[in-house]
Amino acid sequence: MAFDIKMIKEVYSKFPERVEAAKKVTGKPLTLAEKILYAHLWNVKVDKAFTRGKDYVDFAPDRIACQDATAQMALLQFMQAGKDKVAVPTTVHCDHLIQAKDGAATDLKHANDVSSEVFDFLESVSNKYGIGFWKPGAGIIHQVVLENYAFPGGMMIGTDSHTVNAGGLGMVAIGVGGADAVDVMAGMPWELKFPKLIGVKLTGKLSGWTAPKDVILKVAEILTVKGGTGAIVEYFGPGATAMSCTGKGTICNMGAEIGATTSTFGYDESMERYLRATDRNDVADAANEIKEYLTADAEVYANPEQYFDQVIEINLSELGPLLNGPFTPDLSTSVGKEMTEKAQANNWPLQVEWGLIGSCTNSSYEDLSRAASIAQQAIDKGLKTKAEFGINPGSEQVRYTAERDGILQVFENLNAKIFTNACGPCIGQWARYSDPKNAPKNSIVHSFNRNFAKRADGNPNTHAFVASPELTAAIAISGRLDFNPMTDSLINENGEEVMFDEPTGWELPPKGFEVKDNGYLAPEEDGSHVEIVVNPNSERLELLTPFEPIGNTIKGAKLLIKAYGKCTTDHISMAGPWLRYRGHLDNISNNMLIGAVNAFNKQTNFVKNQLTGEYDAVPKVQREYKAKGIKTIVVGDHNYGEGSSREHAAMEPRHLGVAAVLVKSFARIHETNLKKQGMLGLTFDNEADYDLIQEDDTFNFLDLNEFSPSKSLTIEVVHADGSKDTIVVNHTYNEGQIEWYKEGSALNLIKKQNA
Ligand code: F3S
Repeated sequence: MAFDIKMIKEVYSKFPERVEAAKKVTGKPLTLAEKILYAHLWNVKVDKAFTRGKDYVDFAPDRIACQDATAQMALLQFMQAGKDKVAVPTTVHCDHLIQAKDGAATDLKHANDVSSEVFDFLESVSNKYGIGFWKPGAGIIHQVVLENYAFPGGMMIGTDSHTVNAGGLGMVAIGVGGADAVDVMAGMPWELKFPKLIGVKLTGKLSGWTAPKDVILKVAEILTVKGGTGAIVEYFGPGATAMSCTGKGTICNMGAEIGATTSTFGYDESMERYLRATDRNDVADAANEIKEYLTADAEVYANPEQYFDQVIEINLSELGPLLNGPFTPDLSTSVGKEMTEKAQANNWPLQVEWGLIGSCTNSSYEDLSRAASIAQQAIDKGLKTKAEFGINPGSEQVRYTAERDGILQVFENLNAKIFTNACGPCIGQWARYSDPKNAPKNSIVHSFNRNFAKRADGNPNTHAFVASPELTAAIAISGRLDFNPMTDSLINENGEEVMFDEPTGWELPPKGFEVKDNGYLAPEEDGSHVEIVVNPNSERLELLTPFEPIGNTIKGAKLLIKAYGKCTTDHISMAGPWLRYRGHLDNISNNMLIGAVNAFNKQTNFVKNQLTGEYDAVPKVQREYKAKGIKTIVVGDHNYGEGSSREHAAMEPRHLGVAAVLVKSFARIHETNLKKQGMLGLTFDNEADYDLIQEDDTFNFLDLNEFSPSKSLTIEVVHADGSKDTIVVNHTYNEGQIEWYKEGSALNLIKKQNA
């Protein structure tokens, strides 16, 4: 059995008492998001109201989902924790490492050839530690989760930013870094700043060419890519309940594009229908029993301004189809005339070369059936498609059912390529060009979520526009970016003018879902005998060895780099081609800080080696210090480590022997990641001391043996001419985190406690 009804019932049994207690302590009716959050507090007693946007709170998530790219380091770390099994139900999904090129059969075989060692590793670790494993080709993580694991009122974390997709089934589902997932797998709480709340009231009803995708494209236009930061977006109103469950998933999915912590919808009949259609009658029955706790209190939706930090209202009856892009998902344009004008003004290519349907955002049965209804019309009306078509079904269950029902055949009749049930072009795994960097300027339309430059095909000149699957199909067939299917006609093979009728589709397959092999491998009950084999010569995987504690003496430490200005996790551990080494700490460490700007020469990846006086690449210089047993310090500016929660940005410096990172201020998640890896994350007491640091400086920590909460530390900075400055630095380590430092890492401590 893929899902765990016993666990779900246990979660539901806690709702009434905890939600009632939360209403008491907050003294008000509750939104759905608050009900789920308070019902999942780590501390069983609900005796305190939390301040939104301020208080850090420990939670107990019900589930964890990991995709193949991020799971590698997460599981390598979990193996260090000394546990027999994961503490909460966890699944691994192989969907990112499969390139789209010739079509599913060939592409999947190729992926299995080139990435077999990674897939085999993930499969055996999953088997050993009680983790459900979804093989390559089984589907895209978020579609598979929605079909099998998401449940109303649940809390899930996942090592992928679009984990938020599960909000379509009424969850609070949040994307996290691998280190956070490992904590929860090892039985520790998960910390989150209690989010702010944005309410989106949907009135009216979707019809004609307007789809759920247009709702989130509109919300992105209103809130922009940053507008949801630190908030949970809760959708409600008649327009919400009238929408399908997978349509709700699409809206929640792209909540990541507005920076929202997550998005969610209250439990309703569309969710019940979806649960029953995906063979989960018992979950639907259990949810029905506590219905009132799985949506907000009526008073909240009646007077949303009183209970949300911000309220937006969208009338779906007035909403039209949108195209968002290029290069950013919040730049909205209405189809037709507005697009003609904007494209001309901005020099966007009007000819469309590809229409891509799929990704975790829009690959449900409903999505494929609505797009296919347009494709079928093209065939019936004698139209030839002007652009190429690529389809990525969301899961094997969707693919098998869509094939059975003739939907895939419709696309194939238009010469579409049916790619593997995987991320494919959405994550740049698309062999569109042999030399993407020098590929020509062009436009494509897709139903995905992200459209940053180079995201799909590596070509910086590809203008990618995001749209609903049905609009993507119509535009691809017309070959024109400014085609308006509601008003424009096309000329068919007989020279006749024809128009599209409105798209039609099925919310759920009329003959039910069907699948032969869904690609799931359940772990063994007792996996203790399973051996994890990693080839010592592998360039992609490397077993971790526990970090040695840095200790309470740091004397004669050298400055590695004084980073100037913005230094995000991308500057510290770049993505792109380095994705290949996500499971090999030593190899990926060769990208450490190569994007950071050296404050002394304003160049990247060019720092002074104090041992030779020569300038060289940051990782190379650091390796030379490490070889000589010399500790180093990284100095940085404000908000150091902003960006993703990627733990590699902390593990790489730790692995290469950096002892401390001293900055004006930290992005919080990165600061925590440094602490978890047993390093010192410190801030200047006097920001101006940043200017005292010189290229040839050496650092002596004067009172590290007194390292304790709320107590500043003192560092003697020795300059090349022998002069000295003594500076005061601050930290935010609590008792427990100081223990992490003393043991060498949080995982070392967990292991010790387990022994
Ligand atoms: Fe995959 Fe793209 Fe979603 S990379 S998980 S399909 S955002």
